Amino acid sequence: MSAAKTPQSASTDARPRCPVDIDLVNPDTFLAGMPLGAFARMREEAPVFWHPQPGASGDGFWAVNRPADIREVSRQPDIFSSRELGSLLQTGEQAGGDSLETMRLLLLNMDPPEHTRLRETVQRAFTPRTIRGLEPRLREFAEGIVDRAVAKGEGDFVKDVAAELPLLAICELMGIPAQDRGRIFDLSNRLIGFEDPEFQTSPEDAQVASTEMYLYANELAEQRQREPRQDIITDLLHAQVDGHALSVSEFDVFFLLLAVAGNETTRNAITHGMKAFFDHPEQWELFKRERPGAAADEIIRWATPVMQFQRTAMSDYVLAGQQIRAGERVGLFYSAANRDSDLLPEPDRFDIRRTRNLHVAFGGGGPHFCLGANLARAEVQIMFEVIADRMPHIAPTGALRPLRSMFINGIKTFPVRYVPAPPA
Ligand code: HEM
Repeated sequence: MSAAKTPQSASTDARPRCPVDIDLVNPDTFLAGMPLGAFARMREEAPVFWHPQPGASGDGFWAVNRPADIREVSRQPDIFSSRELGSLLQTGEQAGGDSLETMRLLLLNMDPPEHTRLRETVQRAFTPRTIRGLEPRLREFAEGIVDRAVAKGEGDFVKDVAAELPLLAICELMGIPAQDRGRIFDLSNRLIGFEDPEFQTSPEDAQVASTEMYLYANELAEQRQREPRQDIITDLLHAQVDGHALSVSEFDVFFLLLAVAGNETTRNAITHGMKAFFDHPEQWELFKRERPGAAADEIIRWATPVMQFQRTAMSDYVLAGQQIRAGERVGLFYSAANRDSDLLPEPDRFDIRRTRNLHVAFGGGGPHFCLGANLARAEVQIMFEVIADRMPHIAPTGALRPLRSMFINGIKTFPVRYVPAPPA
């Protein structure tokens, strides 16, 4: 760990810049796939560099590209705050004002000790033990999904297969009735897809979608107040944080976070995983034969569905030799770090038998480490086991279409043929 030290006359011109001409906050940059060549040069030549972002807080941020540095930042929430300017990189543009206050109600945008207390209220729903208990139900869901796809013969893998399981899983955990699941799915798409013109939504529509989500959350809360159940909603309603129950807005934003965080991320992990198996048929053969339990983590590393989150330095700090000033933002580029050879040997090889896979797709550790990591791993593993059982010869029939986003490494559509397993 480096000690904070403030040089007397630091000129902003002395800040290292990206060795490649690339704009990491422009969604178009990622339309042709992850810029792996650029990431490699960034890690090699300027692991921590200054990235301009005109109009955003500080007119830029420090891009951090190596796993060790990401861990160093993630594990020191007292120095690198999630609350100060929020944890979403693009929101730097709206720094300050009401939106920041609202954002701070979200677990992702809190710092300890407030964060610790709120997180404890839902932690129970996500322990490895709880998730193991949920597995038979996840398998049942996955089998239903795959059987419906097989019956269709062909279709869009994202819609038919990848999107369904995360949605069913989170709805099950939260106790959302079956008839409302379509509504949650649509709202979460509108919330996250506004950078992509095809979703025909806008930041304003995302705002409307979040309001609709809150209204729905309130309806459900009223219902659970009357009839408590064994689900996260009931837990949240009975949670005591600092001796008082969650306020309506605290409850609403928590609901929204759970609904969104679990859907988009795991859906994209599954779709990228399928693509990786198509691109590496020998790995698919291996999976079908051996079903290594390590596959899920390799798929998630390969996909890295969340490209980055940000923190804000609360004091001066030296990271990888770079002087970071109090108040400056730091972007943690998980997508670049997950291809670092310090992380694992031959990081550009997709290998589902890797054992020590300490990737940073769920974050670099510390208090915000993905709450749903165990659930996501179980969903990915089970989904591919069921695909291997029931449609082992699934094949692509066209090109996939990427989501236009600088935050989510997303795939919108992926045409495939669902080939059923030959009769035993
Ligand atoms: C492959 C799928 C997933 C990926 C790649 C992923 C990734 C992440 C990342 C990178 C973070 C931030 C970590 C940090 O700041 O240090 C995060 C936080 C979070 N994730 Fe996930 N996630 C996934 C699935 C899920 C699922 C299924 C849920 C279930 C509800 C979930 C719920 C959350 C929540 C609530 C947080 C905020 C935790 C906090 O601030 O304390 N995630 N996730």
